[in-house]
Amino acid sequence: MEIFVEKDYEGMSLRAAQMVAIEIKRKRQIVLGLASGNTPLGLYKYWIRMVQQGNLSFKGVTSFNLDEYLGLAPQHPQSYWTYMQENLFCQIDIEPEHVHIPHGDVEDVAAHCLAYEQLIRQVGGIDIQILGIGQNGHIGFNEPGGRFGNSTHLVELTEGTRQVNSRYFLQGEDVPTHAITMGLKSIMNAKQIVLLAAGENKSDAVYKAIMEEVSSELPASVLQLHPNCVFILDEEAASRLPASVQGKREVAR
Ligand code: F6R
Repeated sequence: MEIFVEKDYEGMSLRAAQMVAIEIKRKRQIVLGLASGNTPLGLYKYWIRMVQQGNLSFKGVTSFNLDEYLGLAPQHPQSYWTYMQENLFCQIDIEPEHVHIPHGDVEDVAAHCLAYEQLIRQVGGIDIQILGIGQNGHIGFNEPGGRFGNSTHLVELTEGTRQVNSRYFLQGEDVPTHAITMGLKSIMNAKQIVLLAAGENKSDAVYKAIMEEVSSELPASVLQLHPNCVFILDEEAASRLPASVQGKREVAR
């Protein structure tokens, strides 16, 4: 595992944007795994700027998003589909048919999850998976206690996750109780993983993910077992890590 600690959110976002942009330029037909939430917004802004300035193109890029709320149709204002259109896809030159996000309004969820996994396999797997991390250590919507062997599946969201995510909804009760998420196995199958975390409220989860034993109680800790995983943190998210780790700015574990 490599760990980069940047001064602030901007620095974290810029490093991630540049790191992935180099790979997109190198491999035009690259397959990206993307996340929603607050954390990757800065990264997406940098990619949009690079495209607008003519320094990057997403033509040929295929994307798979990690998750979607169950019960929300793509056009729902709070769906992750809407989030991705507004914050990234509408502003870059990715081909719409290359964009994949689980559909929250399907009737046969199990069949949809299976088809999503098959599609990922068909295109040769995910080259680079972008992740955020929940305060409880979730990645995607893989909540504590979930199975490491899970592929894309239906999950029940914890009360804590629903509360944290209620900031996007008019009322707390509107936050869906379930979601479709790529599983820890799907995530671990990616050839490279880039996890972003910023802010003091992520420092505990980041500490446990890096420093403690791998445990399903802290889903992100499984990333210790990935052969090519990079954490890009801001100083606040890294603040609980021992000075030896922070001081080096980059460590192999
Ligand atoms: C989003 C996702 C989640 C978020 C996590 C952190 O697609 O899969 O795991 O990455 O909840 O969310 P933010 O970035 O809003 O703090």
